[in-house]
Amino acid sequence: MQSGMKPSMQLSMRPKLLLARPVFDEVMAQLAQHFELLHNPTDQVLSQAELISALQGCQALFATPSETITKAVIEACPELKTIGLMAVGYNNVDLAAASAQGVMLTNTPDILTETTADFAWALLLATARRVTEAEHWLRAGLWQNWRYDTLLGQDVHGSTLGILGMGRIGCAIARRARGFTMPVLYHNRTQLVPSQAEGASWVDKTTLLEQSDHLILILPYSSQTHHIIGAKELARMKPTATLINLARGGIVDDAALVAALQQKRLAGAGLDVFENEPALHKGLLALQNVVLTPHIASASGATRRKMAQRAAHNLIASLSGIPPDLVNPAALSQKEPTTWRTSA
Ligand code: DGY
Repeated sequence: MQSGMKPSMQLSMRPKLLLARPVFDEVMAQLAQHFELLHNPTDQVLSQAELISALQGCQALFATPSETITKAVIEACPELKTIGLMAVGYNNVDLAAASAQGVMLTNTPDILTETTADFAWALLLATARRVTEAEHWLRAGLWQNWRYDTLLGQDVHGSTLGILGMGRIGCAIARRARGFTMPVLYHNRTQLVPSQAEGASWVDKTTLLEQSDHLILILPYSSQTHHIIGAKELARMKPTATLINLARGGIVDDAALVAALQQKRLAGAGLDVFENEPALHKGLLALQNVVLTPHIASASGATRRKMAQRAAHNLIASLSGIPPDLVNPAALSQKEPTTWRTSA
């Protein structure tokens, strides 16, 4: 056992699982029926060195989007066989390294789609209609009387919605646009067949930037999508437009966005994710025309519970076969026979 890591069970025949962060009690109880659990005793994200140390002797890891699971971590943990990530996005795991070492990675697709799409609209509406700015203004005692020009925002209904990244969540966002009678444009590497596009029309990226009144980013982060929205792209957007990011930090160049917002080259931004989160570009905190939330797009009680249960289910399933949400089938060809599945 690692110093600082507390075993909750002493069933030595069970594979060891590190819970990188606390999770719902019933999910931990479910995992404890199949694994010997090691807990991170703090609610702090483990550093690379701490993660490596804590994972020694562990075959399984329950992880969240906060842990950075690099090649160095994977290579330093030769007994690791399976990672259950409580998230759909898995850019925090070095997939090639995991596959090369036969480490299965699972995620939690589908179950957060509708909740995340709801939140895209929450951010869009709050940003366009300046909801949080208005509340701060009111709480600061600045409301003296009704005025014709108090906190004027941008209309949402009837305006053009742009979606960059038209996967499951993008489609769920587009579907909701019907109620606001909005034409919807999207850009994706591949065009969807029209029957799957929820009435949205594919356009090239430049057209998307130039024609969207509200642009939502919901695409995976990778080296190809790093800073896919930077100064050049922001300059193409309408000065009345809003930009909403609930995908991943790093997709937007935060410094370029701060500059565009400071210079009013964009009406506003709604951001749930940030480069280097939880640290924020300090320029963002000083701006009024941004709505800032702490990576909570999937955070309804019901959905977060389902995500945790699904991550646990994947980990348990990996003891006896191929887990349902396996991201890297390539890992299977590297795997030794089931010698680690001591109590499956
Ligand atoms: C995901 O699932 O990728 C979300 O960002 C986690 O909330």
